[in-house]
Amino acid sequence: MTSAALLSVQAVSLAFGGVRALSSVDMDVDSGTICGLVGPNGAGKTSLFNCICGYYTPTSGRIKLSGRDITNTPPYRLAGHGVARTFQHPVLQPAKTVLDNVLVGGHSTFNTGLLSSTFRLPRARREERALEDRGRELLGYLGIGDLAALKASELSYGGQKRVELARALMSRPSLLLLDELASGLTHEEVMELGEDVQRVRTDFDVGIVLVEHHMGMVSAITDKVVVLVQGAKVVEGPAAEVQGHPVVIEAYLGTAA
Ligand SMILES: Nc1ncnc2c1ncn2[C@@H]1O[C@H](COP(=O)(O)OP(=O)(O)O)[C@@H](O)[C@H]1O
Ligand SMILES: [Mg+2]
Repeated sequence: MTSAALLSVQAVSLAFGGVRALSSVDMDVDSGTICGLVGPNGAGKTSLFNCICGYYTPTSGRIKLSGRDITNTPPYRLAGHGVARTFQHPVLQPAKTVLDNVLVGGHSTFNTGLLSSTFRLPRARREERALEDRGRELLGYLGIGDLAALKASELSYGGQKRVELARALMSRPSLLLLDELASGLTHEEVMELGEDVQRVRTDFDVGIVLVEHHMGMVSAITDKVVVLVQGAKVVEGPAAEVQGHPVVIEAYLGTAA
């Protein structure tokens, strides 16, 4: 018997009133692999992320993490189960420092109770320091260690995207969902970020789902691609195969060209 996939999306459907955002979508992602999730705007990519992360409740279907059913698990508990994400539009606290924004991602791993942290007992101080060290390390790893003390509002868009990635890694995820990480970046920045995502996959031993419109990046770094059109999966396979599929050319690449 083969072991369960890291992420298994099974016949997930989602409706908003009359709008069918997802229609019986299946998707498996293994640990240590990168799965591209592509499709035109409105195809349901972010909605699928929101279902996996517990922001939306699927109308039907199941979502499993390493065989364990996580359907309907609220977002704040999913971090503890190893699910982390970045947002399509960076969600940073502009007045806080880059480091503080990253540390927000570590709170699910923070063990000290409210009382001891209130009184700053030694254990709380130790944990705080360890979190801070990890935050600085991650910023260095992503090449923005020198930005730690800046306010988030002072960052370029590319910088904000890297901070989102660092924050997601703080919780030591096993599954990382990256929603249009490269949108709004220059071609050069995109390819650099693509290399970083590949390093993250290997160095942190995570499974990654990457929502991305930049087909160069998708081809360069994904192990397979799932194509959604109007909420339904139309094709799945290696990027090179998927790109040549008539439905994809018509529905996605055709409009992008
Ligand atoms: N919170 C919501 N309420 C109503 N409709 C929504 C909501 N979120 C997404 N939708 C609809 O679901 C469909 C899929 O949207 P989305 O998942 O954002 O697509 P994508 O990320 O692929 O661009 C769209 O028709 C969108 O308008
Ligand atoms: Mg989206």
